[in-house]
Amino acid sequence: MARRTKVYEGKAKILYEGPEPGTLVQYFKDDATAFNAKKKEIIEGKGVLNNRLSEFFMVGLNNIGIPTHFLKRLNMREQLISSCEIIPLEVIVRNFAAGTLCERLGLEEGRQLSRPLVEYCYKDDSLGDPLVSEEHIAAFGWASHQEMDEILSLALRVNDFLSGIFYGVGIRLVDFKIEIGRVFESDFQRLVIADEISPDSCRLWDIDSGEKLDKDVFRRDLGNLTDAYSEVAMRLGVIQPSNSKVAEPRLVK
Ligand code: C5P
Repeated sequence: MARRTKVYEGKAKILYEGPEPGTLVQYFKDDATAFNAKKKEIIEGKGVLNNRLSEFFMVGLNNIGIPTHFLKRLNMREQLISSCEIIPLEVIVRNFAAGTLCERLGLEEGRQLSRPLVEYCYKDDSLGDPLVSEEHIAAFGWASHQEMDEILSLALRVNDFLSGIFYGVGIRLVDFKIEIGRVFESDFQRLVIADEISPDSCRLWDIDSGEKLDKDVFRRDLGNLTDAYSEVAMRLGVIQPSNSKVAEPRLVK
């Protein structure tokens, strides 16, 4: 098999050079990490599920006119994406109090927020991705004022889209994180939703039971992570019940 050029390896994904200029291949690993990679495990099948789920959300966003980096899924673990310059921010949207918001402000988990709350963290693992304000973002030139206006609007549109999709299958979108990239096309530059959208980057609770169906299952040792992600994928029709345990193809000797 031809050797590919690895462009970047992160905690859950690898980027390879794509077949055409301006493209990359995004490979989803089975690695699960939490607490800034202090907790690590390989969870068989997670990458396959996240590849399919991220495809589902990105295709939906593209279809309603919210640009993303997604071009097409290539196979069980890989998708072709537009190469972009990632803005070094984690854009977090919260509908209900959970996670670090509760830790920071002493809020009770699950409290509905009076309106979606958008937060920004500076993407730097060595600093633990600290929360930053728009003043920091402007002062350090991570994004322009005009880009920040666009990012806020994109984040809220993605929130409306995802909240509706999840509500339709009995799941509450508590919060999520997205990353934004700049795509350069001749003299133009536009912002796109990049990275991934999956239960790794969202908090998803069953509306009736409150059961957690996201990476908190791994963070808090609440059960089997692929069962939770498969449940999300099945409810959304991304996988069928019969093949809910997504297995890697095996070589038959
Ligand atoms: O940990 P915290 O409560 O700030 O996370 C808010 C949301 O952002 C959660 O859905 C979490 O999964 C996501 N997140 C992420 N990657 C990070 C930090 C948070 O996907 N590095």
